[in-house]
Amino acid sequence: MKEAVHKVIFLPSQRTVTAKRGEILLDVLRRESQPVSAVCGGRGNCGKCKVLLDEGSEAFPPTLTEARLLTRDEIAAGYRLSCQFKVMTDVRVKTEDPKVDSAVSKPSLPKIMIREISPQFRLEEFSLSKPDIHDQASDYSRLISALVTERPRIDRLNLLRNLPRIIREMDYRGRAVMYGSEVIDILPFSDESGIFGTAIDIGTTTLAVYLADLKSGEILAVRSAPNPQSSYGQDVISRIDYTMKRDKGVDELRAAVLTTLNKLIDDLCRESEVSNERIYDTSIVGNTTMIHILLGISPERIASSPFIPAFTGGKVFESRELDLEESIPNSKIYIMPGISAYVGSDITAGILSSGFVEDSGNVLLVDIGTNGEMALKRGGLIFACSTAAGPAFEGGNISQGTIARPGAVDHVWLNGRDIGFSTVNGSKATGICGSGLIDAIAVMIGAGILTESGRIKGEYFELEGPAGIVRINKRDIREVQLAKAAIRAGVSVLMDRAGIETRDIDRILLAGAFGNYIDPENALRIGMLPNVPVERVLPVGNAAGLGAVLAVLDSGIRERAENLSGSICYVELSGRKDFNEIFVDNLALREG
Ligand code: FES
Repeated sequence: MKEAVHKVIFLPSQRTVTAKRGEILLDVLRRESQPVSAVCGGRGNCGKCKVLLDEGSEAFPPTLTEARLLTRDEIAAGYRLSCQFKVMTDVRVKTEDPKVDSAVSKPSLPKIMIREISPQFRLEEFSLSKPDIHDQASDYSRLISALVTERPRIDRLNLLRNLPRIIREMDYRGRAVMYGSEVIDILPFSDESGIFGTAIDIGTTTLAVYLADLKSGEILAVRSAPNPQSSYGQDVISRIDYTMKRDKGVDELRAAVLTTLNKLIDDLCRESEVSNERIYDTSIVGNTTMIHILLGISPERIASSPFIPAFTGGKVFESRELDLEESIPNSKIYIMPGISAYVGSDITAGILSSGFVEDSGNVLLVDIGTNGEMALKRGGLIFACSTAAGPAFEGGNISQGTIARPGAVDHVWLNGRDIGFSTVNGSKATGICGSGLIDAIAVMIGAGILTESGRIKGEYFELEGPAGIVRINKRDIREVQLAKAAIRAGVSVLMDRAGIETRDIDRILLAGAFGNYIDPENALRIGMLPNVPVERVLPVGNAAGLGAVLAVLDSGIRERAENLSGSICYVELSGRKDFNEIFVDNLALREG
């Protein structure tokens, strides 16, 4: 018997796909790369996978979970939880607008300090003698013997296939694109189109791609987009969980991120009028789980003790091995080395780009994300750890939480007795992001609305202004307490291992987009960071992304990254018997 299928029509695009009768709507949205947030990975806990059904809602009545997580008004208006809803008839579904706002997708170009541009690639000119009946050397030998590079070779079959045609079209003169001793492309002698590199930062929440000119060292453009894997779970654990429960789970997550990466690179090339074929080098950084999934390696063993990743060292691949040949057909891909299952190459890259190593004092680097990754340097020793901060600062588990997109409350302040707030782009308030939450908590304590132990007067606190209304309830405050305590407890353990006190910390570097936006004074006020003088706290932007850029512009960085990752002392927090005690000690919202 033929399986029943129904139409699923996405609004406003009207794109129509089919779903099997009884298929979970969230699975359809994931398969079709529709934007949807599924913080709890579809377990019916978070209420974030909400969609508006314009038609077809009545064929599957609301479940008890939906009745618990949606308001009556929402259900009456046609809102449903996509992880609970089964497609039993044709449906018309409105998800969030898939267009990422240009201000968010095109962050401002970062400045990069680099002493010398020395990419992994070189251009070597050659001039070949023409063959005749007395000189029957092959085209390959003719080229190889004309190059001054030691033991040159061609490994790419495609280049070998085209070699006879290329060298004749170029009349035996040209320039070889050398990657070490490998010839990876041949360019006409007079070609002036340039050579380029891309640097990719795969964050759990956000993907960022940079396009750099490998001759001038200039960053030409940068684009970012939400990591589409968020529809499979907000944090790495829920994504690992998904890969373990589904036969093709790793492939599904991998395909989601590849589609977005290919698109971001295409957009960058179009914007900068650069041919995709002229991108010869790409470096990629990310946490260890993101990198495993990108490479199609099961992250299963990262999730449970003794937390063993398949690899952490630096690796070089061809773009086609990663299925990125659509956007970077000629590029080598360098995966930067990570440190452990939960401290990835994003931290190695951040350490290299932020001035952490060059600073002669005791320096703490904190990258605040769903995993708070951090490193502390004392003298020549570097200690690193990762702590499960949870997704609160990225909008997860917060009733009106959101990432920093237009309409997110990003800053809150106290002006006399009045509380004011701003939103990203000044748009109508639709939720609150991490920087706004930290400000709001600090302001509520300052205004006497919230106690340091986390007790609030009434059920919720309401931010109300010309931009709209956003509420922060008791559970939200608890989530912030848990997240900040996890980060502060991780820092405490590192300080203990390094044998230093708060007063000994000369600098705190806040990495990540979030680190750039938070108000250091308020982060200190709620006790998320050790209580140093505020001028010692410096935001360093997307240090991971900039480290990835350095890796395409400066070949020396790769050796430094390898040495660094091998020398960092990883501290496993679950191995500390007193970690829970330290965590509980840090729950209070006070300086310390
Ligand atoms: S409730 Fe549906 S993904 Fe969390």
